[in-house]
Amino acid sequence: MGRLLITGGAGFIGSAIVDEALAEGWQVRVLDSLRPDVHGPGRPSRTDVEFVLADVRDEDAVRDALRGVDAVCHQAAKVGLGVGIRDAPDYVSTNSLGTAGLLAAMAAVGVERLVLASSMVVYGEGLYLDGDRRMQPPPRRRADLEAGRFEPLSERTGEVLEPVAIGEDQPCDPRNVYAATKLEQELLARTWSQGGGAAALLRYHNVYGPGMPQGTPYAGVASLFRSALERGEAPRVFEDGNQKRDFIHVRDVARANISALRWTQHVEGGAARAFNVATGVPHTIGEFADALARAFGGPTPVRTGEFRLGDVRHITASADRITRELGWHPAVGFDDGVSEFAREPLRERVAGG
Ligand SMILES: NC(=O)c1ccc[n+]([C@@H]2O[C@H](COP(=O)([O-])OP(=O)(O)OC[C@H]3O[C@@H](n4cnc5c(N)ncnc54)[C@H](O)[C@@H]3O)[C@@H](O)[C@H]2O)c1
Repeated sequence: MGRLLITGGAGFIGSAIVDEALAEGWQVRVLDSLRPDVHGPGRPSRTDVEFVLADVRDEDAVRDALRGVDAVCHQAAKVGLGVGIRDAPDYVSTNSLGTAGLLAAMAAVGVERLVLASSMVVYGEGLYLDGDRRMQPPPRRRADLEAGRFEPLSERTGEVLEPVAIGEDQPCDPRNVYAATKLEQELLARTWSQGGGAAALLRYHNVYGPGMPQGTPYAGVASLFRSALERGEAPRVFEDGNQKRDFIHVRDVARANISALRWTQHVEGGAARAFNVATGVPHTIGEFADALARAFGGPTPVRTGEFRLGDVRHITASADRITRELGWHPAVGFDDGVSEFAREPLRERVAGG
């Protein structure tokens, strides 16, 4: 199989990729800075991988870590929506500059296979039908949200738009700094691939599963619900809970990385291709909270009507391309995945988090 470098391999998704890659026969090297705002103290204790404690922005360390490597899974990033514009330099430095440095080092050393952790956030708002026209609506207005009008409306008819699954060829419209840097990572990888490399750009949808970080303002909604239940509190679901998402289990995301690695081996060089990593089966955020609370045996979630400006209403994905071209299928169903998630541990709370 060869040697695989997984950046961010100590993180939530990276750890799951390590497990799948080892099972597949890869020799795994992890490069991770163990960001103090997402990790507790101490180093990862697993002994089945080589661990390099370094920052992706450290070009010498990255070049060293690339020695003897056949392919790279680039997961390292500052994640989440952030808490404000003051986070922007950290996002840009970690995600954009970090990726640029990694790609420069890969070009220098001659590593030509890349799987990039991208995100559904590159799309912005999901895809909708306005009559028979497909469109992506602009950001919702504060006045509408304050009045509890959460659904995007047709500018032509005033009717509620009908959400449909988004495919990879729809235009990207990132709506926050994190999203902008995820799109920039994709664009950098596309540019790098023109030198002969193969890049699979995996747009993960809402990932959940064991090992999710908790207690940080950057955590995903599944982790926030689960943390609330653990405190004995009802999960607080924003808006009316009817926001549609595609919840995908972390093991399926890890398996998608392995399928994408195979693709980078067989596809002709100079290729970069985006793939949704999603089940193709939408669920609402309220349904997720309800199912989790039931499985946990905790209090019924409350729909609070609160909102965050910049949140998108619905974003669901077509999984046609990844199933057709990578031969990947999700293996963990919603009910099983959520029940398991209700019982398994989250990542330890960080000091002061
Ligand atoms: N969790 C999701 O729902 C989701 C959805 C879409 C995309 N993604 C993407 O998946 C990837 C993994 O996310 P995750 O949820 O596992 O997050 P995570 O925070 O658990 O993992 C990220 C890892 O990267 C490491 N890291 C961060 N900055 C680094 C740097 N400068 N140098 C070296 N290591 C660094 C962190 O220490 C951490 O271990 C990210 O690229 C993220 O953008 C995640």
